[in-house]
Amino acid sequence: SQDHHPDVQSILLTEQQIADRVAELGREIAEAYQDEPPLLVGVLKGAVMIVADLARRIDLPIDMDWMAVSSYGSGTKSSGVVRIIKDLNADITGRRVLIVEDIIDSGLTLSWLIANLRSRGPKSVEICTLLRKPDAVKVDIDVRFCGFDIPNEFVVGYGLDHAEQYRNLPYIGVLKPSAYTD
Ligand code: PRP
Ligand code: MN
Ligand code: MG
Repeated sequence: SQDHHPDVQSILLTEQQIADRVAELGREIAEAYQDEPPLLVGVLKGAVMIVADLARRIDLPIDMDWMAVSSYGSGTKSSGVVRIIKDLNADITGRRVLIVEDIIDSGLTLSWLIANLRSRGPKSVEICTLLRKPDAVKVDIDVRFCGFDIPNEFVVGYGLDHAEQYRNLPYIGVLKPSAYTD
């Protein structure tokens, strides 16, 4: 048993498990894109860790850009109505784009983002996500690269937050209910 944050009930994925899977994803991506390296598009803020680690495992001359988006609506769940907080610097016309996410939960953020980027005339738009929750399958998103399918638990760490906390935990853990009901 590993030491972990007092608000974390259990560790779902250790640093080592994440690192091993990210290395595999990097090799798969390098193979898939060997003829034409992609622009990696990281979705701030959650994807910061996965983009940083994955990029170092893709043995191709890739470049990176970032988008920040925000869902309107009152609840904790995304409404699917999304606003751009920070847009890409790059022009993606004719480019191969690989969106990198930390997690797909309802899939609403990503559905919107895919449509938005497709409208800019890229050569392709594909998805890499470290984590995917069960509800994501209800939305029609074609995920080419997925790290782990995980149960429907509230997870934090390795970029994932609750109220901006826990992003810097090096593992992915299940948050104790007491940490989000108070
Ligand atoms: C989280 C997560 C994904 C999105 C997934 O981001 O990083 O981007 O929610 O949810 P969905 O599939 O239900 O749309 P969040 O909006 O919390 O912003 P953050 O990345 O800054 O934490
Ligand atoms: Mn996010
Ligand atoms: Mg968040």
